[in-house]
Amino acid sequence: MSPQQSTFPALKRRTMDNRPVRTKRTGAIRHLLLAAAFLVCSSQLLMVDANSWWSLGLTPMQRPEMYIIGAQPLCSQLSGLSQGQRKLCQLYQDHMTYIGDGAKTGIKECQYQFRQRRWNCSTVDNTSVFGRVMQIGSRETAFTYAISAAGVVNAVSRACREGELSTCGCSRAARPRDLPRDWLWGGCGDNVHYGYRFAREFVDAREREKNYPRGSPEHARMLMNLHNNEAGRQAVYNLANVACKCHGVSGSCSLKTCWLQLADFRRVGEFLKEKYDSAAAMRVGRKGKLELLDKRFNPPTTQDMVYIDPSPDYCLRNETTGSLGTQGRLCNKTSEGMDGCELMCCGRGYDQFKTYKHERCHCKFHWCCYVKCKRCTTLVDQFVCK
Ligand SMILES: *[C@@H]1O[C@H](CO)[C@@H](O)[C@H](O)[C@H]1NC(C)=O
Ligand SMILES: *[C@@H]1O[C@H](CO)[C@@H](O)[C@H](O)[C@H]1NC(C)=O
Ligand SMILES: *[C@@H]1O[C@H](CO)[C@@H](O)[C@H](O)[C@H]1NC(C)=O
Ligand SMILES: *[C@@H]1O[C@H](CO)[C@@H](O)[C@H](O)[C@H]1NC(C)=O
Repeated sequence: MSPQQSTFPALKRRTMDNRPVRTKRTGAIRHLLLAAAFLVCSSQLLMVDANSWWSLGLTPMQRPEMYIIGAQPLCSQLSGLSQGQRKLCQLYQDHMTYIGDGAKTGIKECQYQFRQRRWNCSTVDNTSVFGRVMQIGSRETAFTYAISAAGVVNAVSRACREGELSTCGCSRAARPRDLPRDWLWGGCGDNVHYGYRFAREFVDAREREKNYPRGSPEHARMLMNLHNNEAGRQAVYNLANVACKCHGVSGSCSLKTCWLQLADFRRVGEFLKEKYDSAAAMRVGRKGKLELLDKRFNPPTTQDMVYIDPSPDYCLRNETTGSLGTQGRLCNKTSEGMDGCELMCCGRGYDQFKTYKHERCHCKFHWCCYVKCKRCTTLVDQFVCK
């Protein structure tokens, strides 16, 4: 039922979808606004940040007056982009807001998945999205690349379906062989083929235009990034599945229409988190390719994450590595997991606070039809790392 069986080589041979679709008026206006917003965040991005297309995902709310210019995005002013990305920006201007949305979705999901970890995927400030820690080719860096690339596939695939982009439309995925015969195939599906291909062009562009000598640490890092970008894209591609809707007299469901639908992005986040846990440690081999550090393990597939450096110490703040440290982080006194005070505070101990927690409570159903709740306030203990 899923596109899992589709092979990527086949996909790669195909060219970009060129089916014109109606563009929605409201969509166009939203574009202009968001596009203008791009300029806002990008104008603040003057710092060196190797990964700055992610900055497209930072909140554009900082200077609302920029919303009203309604100018086309000027790709040359998006300082987060590499040369190749700038060219793609010029060719596919209407895609840029979705790349921004995708990056944002990826960052948010990363923060959710790592909310209880020492490294919590926090964005450092508005100049560099994840800070210096991304200069280390660690597992955490691997996850960040993968989830950002996944966010772009997700956003672009959905935008195609919604008729927001001029170069793609509904999915044209073939009818799954195992779909029951009397079910219709052909609702407007998420165009995950297009999303995948476009994200590959755009996200990988900045890696591919580098020209590092084979076997150099920079070249190894480029290979690592490309591998993890691909793992992220494939996660979205492979998790997309068939969704169906019933028709027929009074919900008899005698007729079904089905289409291809993206998985909830939370699912993608969970899937990639598992890939993070099982990520493969690599090193540069003799031919300048990445090879397993420990040959007893299975070689990683294109769906797996790879990393080349050990993680820095996330316990203590360190300007050199970019680690923020865990001082001031909330922890759970009774948990034995990573969110427990013992592990989170790295043995430094914790302070205890009392705070008020507000909750909905004593909810009652009233005929008909609403629920009425009270607001309860309780005093709870909170623990914060020293
Ligand atoms: C980051 O954003 C804040 C608030 O908009 C601003 O005051 C600050 O100058 C910005 N920092 C840099 C380095 O641009
Ligand atoms: C910061 O990290 C670097 C690299 O791991 C290490 O050499 C240095 O001692 C650390 N500095 C502090 C203040 O902990
Ligand atoms: C993540 O960690 C940093 C540094 O310890 C902290 O300032 C920030 O509030 C944390 N973010 C969340 C969402 O917990
Ligand atoms: C703390 O951890 C315990 C054990 O894992 C869990 O049952 C409890 O809900 C957690 N408390 C909070 C506030 O998350």
